[in-house]
Amino acid sequence: MNPISVAIIGLGSRGLDTYARCMEKLPERAKIVAVADIDPEKVEIAAKRYHVPADRCFDSGEALLRQPKLADAAVIATPDACHYTQAMAALNLGYHLLLEKPAARTASECLDIAALAEEKGLHVAICHVLRYTVFYQTLKKLIDEGRAGDVVSVQAIERVAYWHQAHSFVRGNWHNKEQSTPMILQKCCHDLDMLLWLMGGHCRTVSSFGSLTHFTRDHMPEGAPLRCVDGCPAGDHCLYNAERYYLEGFRKWGDAWPVNVLCPEPTEEKVKKALRETDYGKCVYQMDNDVVDHQVVNLEMENGATAALTMCAFTATGGRHIRIMGTAGEIEGDGEKNVIRVRPFGGEAEEIDVTRLTDDFSGHGGGDFRLAQDFFALLSGEGKGLLTGIRDSVESHLIALAAEESRLHGGQSVGMKAFTGCP
Ligand SMILES: NC(=O)c1ccc[n+]([C@@H]2O[C@H](COP(=O)([O-])OP(=O)(O)OC[C@H]3O[C@@H](n4cnc5c(N)ncnc54)[C@H](O)[C@@H]3O)[C@@H](O)[C@H]2O)c1
Repeated sequence: MNPISVAIIGLGSRGLDTYARCMEKLPERAKIVAVADIDPEKVEIAAKRYHVPADRCFDSGEALLRQPKLADAAVIATPDACHYTQAMAALNLGYHLLLEKPAARTASECLDIAALAEEKGLHVAICHVLRYTVFYQTLKKLIDEGRAGDVVSVQAIERVAYWHQAHSFVRGNWHNKEQSTPMILQKCCHDLDMLLWLMGGHCRTVSSFGSLTHFTRDHMPEGAPLRCVDGCPAGDHCLYNAERYYLEGFRKWGDAWPVNVLCPEPTEEKVKKALRETDYGKCVYQMDNDVVDHQVVNLEMENGATAALTMCAFTATGGRHIRIMGTAGEIEGDGEKNVIRVRPFGGEAEEIDVTRLTDDFSGHGGGDFRLAQDFFALLSGEGKGLLTGIRDSVESHLIALAAEESRLHGGQSVGMKAFTGCP
């Protein structure tokens, strides 16, 4: 069988460095036949790497989508604000979609994408890659086996890490919610998707609090210039010194995330230029960032079970932790160490070392590759299908948007039916 032909729209960290690399490992399943990005250097790199002819290279997703359909499937990995219009245009042309999260920025846009995909009979895999990790699949299996009994309450924490917050949510693409999306949607639609999947059922009510506390001008060191490279008096001890972080990062790790977000195929000169010219070289206390650095979300499910999610910038490392409390036991997942502990009431505790269950922890604990694999297998008419349908994926977005609504209104409860207008 011929491989599925694929157009990649957005050749950044996800489009080019993640999904294109996944496709390299699946040559019998997927072939890149068209590419688009507004950055000509990225188009050139992709065209050269994947032998894409010049008449299949485009200077924007919009330009690619003005053509008749060029491939079986499209990967949409552009910034959040582009997703809705590009996804709708691609669905109208008949592309199956691997659509980066968040699918869209408002509840009605999310529901539009779901409705159009259903109407056209097309598959849309929203990249909730955590569902595809062995860690979360093991948690799900344990719950389904009844090891916790009926799940009554869940506590989850998304540990963003102080440096990741600075990179992505202070200096980076997601620092300003008008230009991208509220951070709870951007960072935690994954976590909310996990809560829905692990707990089963639907969410009835949401409430949320949170704010931006630290990355503001009030915390700027005295005399700090706009750019770290311009001789900041606090440079030696500032945790967020861009020069130390990115330049030393490049010297240690080379062409790897997050340095390759500053410039494609980085060199020392390119990184220095980016520090002089882009937001990645700016003082974290002088950006126009407005997204939160901490937020809590409470969920009441339709069956009365509850969940509490904390997203916080101020953690030493990134990683997710979860504690599932049920009528017959407790299951605790440490996503940082990849360890799951099952503690049945009145029984023997068991510890599961997830690192013994798989050796692929590349890209989101192996989730990026497994999602791509399942998506292309589905389009080839093989495999088990996707772990999540478009409606399930969209529900997590609706909850995140309801949480943001609550946060902006002093934490008042938001009923999901009233918020979405869905029955
Ligand atoms: N699933 C996940 O876990 C996960 C992780 C990180 C990012 N993301 C999402 O993936 C998306 C891409 O993120 P990224 O980190 O790759 O960002 P990025 O900035 O590295 O890449 C985005 C690319 O899109 C290009 N672009 C901008 N406008 C365009 C247009 N109109 N047409 C074509 N290309 C355009 C940019 O030039 C850039 O190369 C975002 O929506 C982000 O939220 C998802």
